[in-house]
Amino acid sequence: MIKSKAAIAWGPGQPLSIEEVDVMPPQAGEVLVRIVATGVCHTDAFTLSGEDPEGIFPAILGHEGGGVVEQVGEGVTSVAVGDHVVPLYTPECGECKFCKSGKTNLCQKIRETQGKGLMPDGTTRFYKDGEPIFHYMGCSTFSEYTVLPEIALAKVNKEAPLDEVCLLGCGVTTGMGAVMNTAKVEEGATVAVFGLGGVGLSAIIGAAMAKADRIIAIDINESKFDLARKLGATDCINPKDYEKSIQEVIVELTDGGVDYSFECIGNVHTMRSALECCHKGWGESVIIGVAGAGQEIATRPFQLVTGRVWKGSAFGGVKGRSELPGYVDRYMAGEFSLDDFITHRMPLESINEAFDLMHEGKSIRTVIEY
Ligand code: APR
Ligand code: ZN
Ligand code: ZN
Repeated sequence: MIKSKAAIAWGPGQPLSIEEVDVMPPQAGEVLVRIVATGVCHTDAFTLSGEDPEGIFPAILGHEGGGVVEQVGEGVTSVAVGDHVVPLYTPECGECKFCKSGKTNLCQKIRETQGKGLMPDGTTRFYKDGEPIFHYMGCSTFSEYTVLPEIALAKVNKEAPLDEVCLLGCGVTTGMGAVMNTAKVEEGATVAVFGLGGVGLSAIIGAAMAKADRIIAIDINESKFDLARKLGATDCINPKDYEKSIQEVIVELTDGGVDYSFECIGNVHTMRSALECCHKGWGESVIIGVAGAGQEIATRPFQLVTGRVWKGSAFGGVKGRSELPGYVDRYMAGEFSLDDFITHRMPLESINEAFDLMHEGKSIRTVIEY
């Protein structure tokens, strides 16, 4: 057992509390990881708010991390002490029906226990004064030391700065992967991106890497436009500047609609706009934003009958163990930059401030450094 500094979420709506917790040694098939840095994501805030129906307390949140393997449990062969890893909330076991299908990254091997805040054997590795603390999204990167199943670790290039590539553990991969993996945007395409937070800006980077001709960025917060342009957006639109619907504006601007659109907000109304701004006959809309529990999307079926396609992906459709290391290598090769995403850096002790900045729309990503 070791001691670790951690931010504990004791209950919904409460600020995180920085405390020392006990971390149990990794069991068979598990790995102890020392987290070097972690991003703070909207999903952490969603769970902390109490609105997440799957939210369980007390828990250690955080799922956008980078770390170093400290100790391996029995039978672990794919990572060794000293390896650099990015924790995966979507693991890759390689043997479940989902992994074997080759059609999805949604490995289900440990889904049930992970959703309950537990390790695959049904227990937790975190304790405070003898009482168990739950895991979160199978990652719990808001603890300096955390335990993960081997299948939930992507081994990445040791040269890569963990305080930057931690962002590939969620938001950045979600956006880039949706463009390159889910939609497979091709050279010359016209693309619309709704929402210019970390996820939408990553989609813009992906579209620029795919050599899209026109990249239309949509947000109601115009302070996001400069960075969107810097990353490759060719047009920036504020829906509030128009009387007509944003889909009508985009259809007119693009001679009939875009080839691909990406919803990176999590709002069911903009999901409809994103579908309906697609070109008749072939336009594809990919939902990446996570809507509130119980919400539903709507459109007229004729939109689909006439050839538009509505799809979605989680974690950009990226298979964490086999594909994420390649994203890290492309980053190291200079194909894209992450500096622009990291608007703030702070120690774990200030983590509540990171949540405030996010709620106020002042940050893209805050990186917590241990
Ligand atoms: N129309 C256009 N833009 C909007 C609208 C709207 N109706 N509502 C919000 N936005 C913009 C915000 O101004 C902000 O710039 O969408 C952006 C969302 O960015 P962030 O809040 O920073 O969120 P991000 O981290 O990018 O995640 C986006 O993906 O992973 C999910 O849960 C996450 O649903 C969220 C989404
Ligand atoms: Zn996230
Ligand atoms: Zn699997």
